[in-house]
Amino acid sequence: MAMRRWMAGATAVALLAGCGSPATKPLFTADPRLPAPETAGFDPAGLGDDYFPTAGNGGYDVSSYDLNLRYDPATGRLDGTAAITATTARDLTAFHLDLHGLTVTRADVDGTAATTGHDGDELVVTPATPLTTGQTFVTTIGYGGTPSPIEDRRFGSGGFFRTRDGAVAMGEPASASTWFPVNDHPRDKAHYTIEVTVPDGLAAISNGVPAGTSSKGGWTGWRWEVTAPMAPYLAMLAIGKYRVTTGEHDGRPLVTAVADTVRGDDAQQALARTPEITDFLAQWFGPYPFDAYGGVVVDDERIDEALETQTRPIYPASTFRRGPDTVTVAHELAHQWFGDSVSLTRWRDIWLNEGFATYAEWMWQEHEGDGTVRERFDRLYRHDDSRIWSVPPGDPGRGGLFSDSVYQRGAMTLHALREQVGDDTFFAILRTWATAHRDGNATTGDFTNLAEKLAGRPLGGFFDAWLYQTGRPAM
Ligand code: TRP
Ligand code: ZN
Repeated sequence: MAMRRWMAGATAVALLAGCGSPATKPLFTADPRLPAPETAGFDPAGLGDDYFPTAGNGGYDVSSYDLNLRYDPATGRLDGTAAITATTARDLTAFHLDLHGLTVTRADVDGTAATTGHDGDELVVTPATPLTTGQTFVTTIGYGGTPSPIEDRRFGSGGFFRTRDGAVAMGEPASASTWFPVNDHPRDKAHYTIEVTVPDGLAAISNGVPAGTSSKGGWTGWRWEVTAPMAPYLAMLAIGKYRVTTGEHDGRPLVTAVADTVRGDDAQQALARTPEITDFLAQWFGPYPFDAYGGVVVDDERIDEALETQTRPIYPASTFRRGPDTVTVAHELAHQWFGDSVSLTRWRDIWLNEGFATYAEWMWQEHEGDGTVRERFDRLYRHDDSRIWSVPPGDPGRGGLFSDSVYQRGAMTLHALREQVGDDTFFAILRTWATAHRDGNATTGDFTNLAEKLAGRPLGGFFDAWLYQTGRPAM
């Protein structure tokens, strides 16, 4: 199991290798139709993430996306309307949204037509009247085209994939801009309503609470509501022939879907343990943070890794090819607390997602009688694995986002912390982390401060050795 994840990590590294300087995007565009940013030091085309400076857009904060989409698998064409409610952080004569490979057909801001221009994957919207600081405004964008995944050296691949009988949209660190205009950075979390219309007989699964279907003229609209704030890369779409089951757990809807080409019962059996695994994790991490449960098994060889899409993780069929594997399920469900509810402020802190989810795997394996957490830690600690000791998980580099060190040494950091502070304090730290930053964003500094506060002593040297230095820390 671990090998599969490690190898997948290596693939991501290969995709991201050879990145140029981060500042590849010119701040001022040559296109005279597009306005220049009005203030120096503010980048309308990026949020300044030190790994991905052009991810997201400056100057405003989105509170909700209302997406109304229609997808025709026969042509691969997506047409949609996005109504985006946002609040400005400064006066703006124009603002950017991220949109990859799709064309805008109309745009308005608060009901008045706005002009738009494409600058690569940046959509520049100029409202008829400038926006002022603190103003809440609704941008409605009609758009369409034949979506394609992002094959970007800076971001790796992800996004909208056309499949045999439908489509799948997913990917980390970026995928959302391949199917809707978006402020594509986890720092800008928002509510979503997603309605997807597809030909009768196909399913259209997305995140959150199912809000019904409606059929008309051979097409069916599937509606989904995401009430807790969601980072854009956690939004997902799976269209096609699926075996959909709907149930309930703990008074909340449980929706699972398995692609109808997946043979046998192993995938369905593993997904069926979602409530049990979630409850196990909730014992340690505190209450499950969302109002829906589920999972989707997709069948397309280009999607070969599971992703923690909010409330409804995506698993490739290959995860369950050798039986009803629950370790990956535990990993993706742990992300619902760590990554989805408590989200990154900057991609550099990715160990806060992957180290924690890997630690949850170890806890679930111990619970299942498959070795103890301590044994896993000891084996890795003794192992002279330069891939782990040469990369600091707290700053793995853009190309090392999904490296072994982030997963394994990240999890080891948590176990080493547990040995330092004892079980009671350790789990108090995890639970307080999940509740204090629920539905929000946080940094590694926030975590180490919390750990020191609850441990009642400085841990600076400890965290420095585990997260930021190369070489094996002393125990
Ligand atoms: N976050 C994923 C995990 O659960 C790994 C991952 C990184 C991924 N990038 C991806 C999965 C792109 C699918 C697509 O470990
Ligand atoms: Zn993960």
